[in-house]
Amino acid sequence: MRLRNIPGAQEAVENSPYVIHEPEKKKGNMREVFGNQNPIHIEIGMGKGQFLTEMAKQNPQINYIGIELYSSVLLRALQKMDALQEKQEAPGNLRFMCIDARKLSEVFAQDEIDKIYLNFSDPWPKDRHAKRRLPSKEFLKLYDTFLKKDGTVEFKTDNRGLFDFAIEELPQAGWEAKAITYDLHHDTVLNEGNVMTEYEEKFSAKGNPICKYIICR
Ligand SMILES: C[S@@+](CC[C@H](N)C(=O)[O-])C[C@H]1O[C@@H](n2cnc3c(N)ncnc32)[C@H](O)[C@@H]1O
Repeated sequence: MRLRNIPGAQEAVENSPYVIHEPEKKKGNMREVFGNQNPIHIEIGMGKGQFLTEMAKQNPQINYIGIELYSSVLLRALQKMDALQEKQEAPGNLRFMCIDARKLSEVFAQDEIDKIYLNFSDPWPKDRHAKRRLPSKEFLKLYDTFLKKDGTVEFKTDNRGLFDFAIEELPQAGWEAKAITYDLHHDTVLNEGNVMTEYEEKFSAKGNPICKYIICR
């Protein structure tokens, strides 16, 4: 994600009704944000929110939370929500958090989350930065602290090196693959109902095959 410092982004995030403010105070009671007991699915590193906005529209019985580190990026998702709201079409089951994924155990309690999506996570190519990769074993252990026991993580990327790394990490963290494909868009089973992310559209248009796994413990 190209980063620019957008003046006013921080303030817009702080004042948005779509953002969960002081999320650590809602730990264990996150469903209150939505006013129902529906399952919560999160996307970590959601960028401008294209994927989650569409998922939320298609699945009103699921609550979605998009996690994004940068206010300048999250701002784009908030602007999309404002535009939808003008047409009375903003999904009521979608909220956002502006937070570093490393802090997620401070905001989500044990078993609070039903599913995690990782889409086109930053590759952090240097070995010494491997721990920063969102599908690393260190992050998988963090996800253990708040993902339900039968919960799954779904990861998509066009970066084959990152995908191979992610698969190697699984046994070390006590996870296993339920499904793997190295060419999602030509996989009739796994591609059914696939909602494309912004990066997925960009890289598949260049001819890059998309890898995907679904993992569980
Ligand atoms: C390459 S973009 C992918 C965006 C989107 N998921 C997609 O597929 O189009 C990765 C996003 O993850 C965010 N990100 C990276 N590390 C993060 C972290 N530790 N916590 C939260 N977000 C993070 C980045 O700011 C960026 O917006």
